[in-house]
Amino acid sequence: MVKDNSCKHIAIIMDGNGRWAKKRGMPRTFGHKKGAENVVNITRAMKESGVKYLTLYAFSTENWQRSEDEVKALMDLLREYLDKEFKEIMDNNVKLVFIGERYMLSDDIREKIEYLEKTSKDNSDLTLCIALSYGSRHEIVNATKNIAKAYANREISLDDITFDLISNNLYTRDIPDPDILIRTSGEQRISNYLLWQLAYTELFFTNTLWPDFNKDELMAIIEQFNNRERRYGKN
Ligand code: FPP
Repeated sequence: MVKDNSCKHIAIIMDGNGRWAKKRGMPRTFGHKKGAENVVNITRAMKESGVKYLTLYAFSTENWQRSEDEVKALMDLLREYLDKEFKEIMDNNVKLVFIGERYMLSDDIREKIEYLEKTSKDNSDLTLCIALSYGSRHEIVNATKNIAKAYANREISLDDITFDLISNNLYTRDIPDPDILIRTSGEQRISNYLLWQLAYTELFFTNTLWPDFNKDELMAIIEQFNNRERRYGKN
């Protein structure tokens, strides 16, 4: 079987904003602000790279447990990012999608993301998927409930429960599994991110803190990926 080994999807855990700020004697929220600016830089670099999907972990279901001030600062940054960057997103033919537990978001953010998804849905150069209030175990529980309901209603049989059926019940149903996962800041964990989708993904960990992660490092990782041999469990 001939496999197309080119990279189609990069997923990133943008870690290290707090430490980046602390090193400069600044509050954590300053690090998040720089981190949000870097989302713009890396999205531009991705478009140049020709990779079609970028998924960014902006806020996890666990992040709701951070201090009220920090959660508010992150949500305000997100509002600002969505308002400020949407023109560039549309001008660059970028499709915006959001994955996560939407019911936990405030009404104004939920309405905003629904509007942005609808407006950008026919764009096709790059899909920018923002994981917001996202937790992979929540996603898998939701998918399991949907499948159980379909089984209970006799819409499907046990034999219909396949890898594809599960994938198609996840928030990422329209997105191929990531080829590359990057986590910045030296931590080597998955942190409840895309657990099902990362089954065969190549993992890259860098000590660079997210606000300092740049296009050169991104391109070097894509280059390394191109030189890795993926065997998908075969020899
Ligand atoms: C991890 O750094 C980062 C986050 C929890 C949030 C990531 C958010 C952004 C980059 C900004 C907003 C995003 C968008 C899409 C506008 P940390 O706070 O855990 O850093 P630390 O581990 O050094 O404390």
